[in-house]
Amino acid sequence: MGTMRTQLTFTNLPEIATELLAVLAVDTQTSKEPGAKPEPVLLTNDEAVKAAAATVLASGEYKGGANEMLLLHAPAGLAAKRLLLVGLGKQAKSTVHLVRNAAGAAVRFAKPRGIRELAFVLPESELLPPGPCVRAAVEGALVGDYDPDTYRSDRKDQSVESFALAAPADADKSVLEAAFAEGAIVGDSQNFARTLVNEPGNKLTPTILGQRAVAMAEHVDLRCEVYSTEKLHELKMGAFWSVSQGSEEPPALIVLKYQPEGVKDGPVLGLVGKGITFDSGGISIKPGENMEKMKYDMAGGAAMLGAMRAIALLKPKVRVICIVCAAENMPDGKAQKPGDVQTAMPIAPNKPGKTIEIINTDAEGRLVLADGITYARTLGATHLIDAATLTGACVVALGMVNAGAFSNDDETFNKFNAALATSGEKFWRLPLGDEYAEQIKSDIGDIKNTGGRWGGASTAAEFLKVFAEDTPWIHLDIAGMAWMEENKPYIAKGPSGVAVRSILEWVRSY
Ligand code: BES
Ligand code: MN
Ligand code: ZN
Repeated sequence: MGTMRTQLTFTNLPEIATELLAVLAVDTQTSKEPGAKPEPVLLTNDEAVKAAAATVLASGEYKGGANEMLLLHAPAGLAAKRLLLVGLGKQAKSTVHLVRNAAGAAVRFAKPRGIRELAFVLPESELLPPGPCVRAAVEGALVGDYDPDTYRSDRKDQSVESFALAAPADADKSVLEAAFAEGAIVGDSQNFARTLVNEPGNKLTPTILGQRAVAMAEHVDLRCEVYSTEKLHELKMGAFWSVSQGSEEPPALIVLKYQPEGVKDGPVLGLVGKGITFDSGGISIKPGENMEKMKYDMAGGAAMLGAMRAIALLKPKVRVICIVCAAENMPDGKAQKPGDVQTAMPIAPNKPGKTIEIINTDAEGRLVLADGITYARTLGATHLIDAATLTGACVVALGMVNAGAFSNDDETFNKFNAALATSGEKFWRLPLGDEYAEQIKSDIGDIKNTGGRWGGASTAAEFLKVFAEDTPWIHLDIAGMAWMEENKPYIAKGPSGVAVRSILEWVRSY
């Protein structure tokens, strides 16, 4: 994980002797007239900083647009060697989430230029509450510091060594210090998930994912157990095992438990993650093009592990269990075949498990999650959330802008939706319904694992709902959002760590 140190400082801005002082700017021009010129203004009350930037702001060269950056060397009247302006865009549209990205952009500006240390000025603006901004800025800086080039033999670690967040001297120190500590935990946890997602299938098998979970759990003092083939058979996890049976790599059933001191009743939140360390499609093999991407098919599981890390450190007063179903989906003489019928884990020993007709072995995520969901319920989960890179159909529907969300319970979903205001992540609710359930009825058994081409994200969610039954449940389809296809000013191309922050905030809302 990143080596970047973070600190909160209340030093007067002109006195900060730093390589780079980053300050935010907004465009205050409200007129929409064609001739109206941008009116960039810095989000600080410090007169020396404002004076240092006054000439360039008046020049019209710099507009304060979103992520627009401008570097000044040897700024007059400041101890800093450089002053970096980072734009947020129109003032009226400035949000805490843009501050998160701006902090990331400042760090990513510094990295390739060999600038190893910077200070970021906490914005002073009525639209930007200081506490949430502090948290978001630290998160954004940590996320911005991450790069995925782990296996380059000539890799130069360009990590920023030190990131200081500069808050006004008259600020409420204890509030900002708490927000700062929180942001560091959240940013590190998101990067922890990204590090896992970035690993290739040969380096991160289900067994190794299990070992990584154990190491993380020891570090943050969580209970963690990792089971394999025998336990799957013992629990009669026929759906999970059917995916694993075609691989030389044994599956891993990863179970983490967070039990806050003194909490003996109330809800038990069950987090269930898809942990397919490589998805070849199995016998229904995928085309070769882009198949290498399917190393990220464990991003849902990684998001759950990242969230559990943050939960363990932030200590909300609610019990949480986490199940990651890790397997490799491979074609082989022992692999399951289209037409096979599998029996999922029963909810109780005296009840039969539901039978699943396998239509397409590439619809494997829902199979491992089915048993993961049932297992979480047998362990006492009263509310469920799952995350999975589940369907290409969700990517077609929402693109790489929103992740999909589904729920069988409005109240539970509303809590998740409210959490997005803090996390800043975009999820869009998609429908479930009896008509979709109709599409996955099987002639030979209870259900089939695909529902045809149309409404593929919803039929996949309906499949999971069969196992959630009446337990309040949210399903997150992150197929389009778990991997960034392009570099952005504030985040590297590669694993995004999406859903860690939203799942965490949902948990904290109980
Ligand atoms: N892991 C894939 C879904 C996926 C697609 C993730 C694109 C990330 C990017 C999943 O296991 C899968 O193969 N889904 C199939 C389901 C189909 C066979 C019903 C799909 O979406 O094509
Ligand atoms: Mn698949
Ligand atoms: Zn998959």
